[in-house]
This record gives sequence, structure tokens and C-alpha cells, in this order.
Amino acid sequence: MSSQKFPIVVLISGNGTNLQALIDAEKNYDYKICGVISNNKDAYGLIRAREAHIPRTVISHTQYATRDAFDQELQHIIMQYSPRLILLAGFMRKLGKNIVRHFAGRMINIHPSLLPKYPGLNTHEKALTAQDQEHGVSIHFVTEELDAGPIICQAKLKILPNDTVQSLEQRIHVLEHKAYPLTAQWFAEGRITLDDRQVLHDGKVLTSTGYSLKLD
Ligand code: GRF
Repeated sequence: MSSQKFPIVVLISGNGTNLQALIDAEKNYDYKICGVISNNKDAYGLIRAREAHIPRTVISHTQYATRDAFDQELQHIIMQYSPRLILLAGFMRKLGKNIVRHFAGRMINIHPSLLPKYPGLNTHEKALTAQDQEHGVSIHFVTEELDAGPIICQAKLKILPNDTVQSLEQRIHVLEHKAYPLTAQWFAEGRITLDDRQVLHDGKVLTSTGYSLKLD
């Protein structure tokens, strides 16, 4: 492990179980969470960050007249933490093209579906309604299109006959909580690069659905 840890910032809006997984795994990995930013002052993730003594900033989009004004201030706050990577972890706010372009290749998101299936909300319900055999999680670069940036990795699970939205959410969280810290570690080790829209892992171009993680 290098003496200088790889600084990351985590953006949240809610419960922050992925943030907690990143906090818990930090001691075993080469990254360090140097800041947590929430657009919701009541996000439980802020308490998780406080308990882990991580600097925090709240920026409420309701205080800004335009999307662009909010994005500009958010960009400014992120830069004050000087991160090498920005992780969206349940951050419920679509970002505009300027901020996304500014952090191109350095901003990633975790999404609870096997993208390109089911961008947006209610992914577990959609997978059940479609009677899918499998479901999963994707980690991807953030671009201007919602949940449509180049995919870094995916982890899958088999949908069981008695699965419900709640059970799927729980099972997906188990995958997410392993996959996100691992992906942050890949970045810390310099193993992931983005070349135009192609993702490279250890110098090899990945397929459009990214690296297939086996986590169970
Ligand atoms: C996760 O399922 C993540 O994939 C999605 O939002 C949820 C956030 O959960 N983007 P938590 O706040 O990390 O518990």
C-alpha cells in the first residue's frame, strides 16, 4: 500500500449504505475519503461521515435559481477537496454537461441494474415485472445522459422465485457494498482508464458491459 492514499469524494443524498461500505473498506485499500457532499441536509449518510470524522458539505439545490448555478457551486466544493475520483453513491440529482465534462473520466456512479437495462428509478420493480432471470449492479462513468456512461463493471445475481422488491434491494446492496470499494481501489492502483468511450482495465479494452465481477 502506498504511503499517500488516493483521495476520493463521495456524493450522497440519502441513507449512505454504499458510503458506509467505502468507509469500512478504506483501511484495507489505498483510497481515502477526503470529503462527503450531500444535497440533502437530512441525509443519514452525513451522520455516517461525521462518525468516521470525514469532512462534510451540504449544498441544497433548492437554494439555486438554475441547474447550472447549482452545478457550478458543486464543482467548486468538490475541487476544494482536491479528489482524484468522485463517486456518486445514491446522489439523486442529475448533473449538467459543464460539470460532467469538467470531471470527465474522474466521476463514477453506481446503479442498481444491469445497464443498459433500466436506467432511472424503480429498477428492482422493473426487473421483477419483466420476469427477468437475472438482475445486478453496474458501475459506470458519469456522462450527460442519465445512467448511460461507459460501464466499468457489473455484478449479477439470479432472481429467485420468491424475490420481492425489498429482497432484491437487499441482495443488490450486498453486491454494491463489495463492488464499489473494489472499483475505487482499481482507480487508486491506476488500473482503470477511459479512452473516448472505451474503458480499459489493466490496459485491456472492456466490452460494453464492463468487467464481470464474481462476488458471491
Ligand atoms: C444504491 O442502490 C445505488 O445503486 C443507487 O442508490 C442507492 C443508494 O443507496 N444509485 P445507499 O444510499 O448507498 O444506501
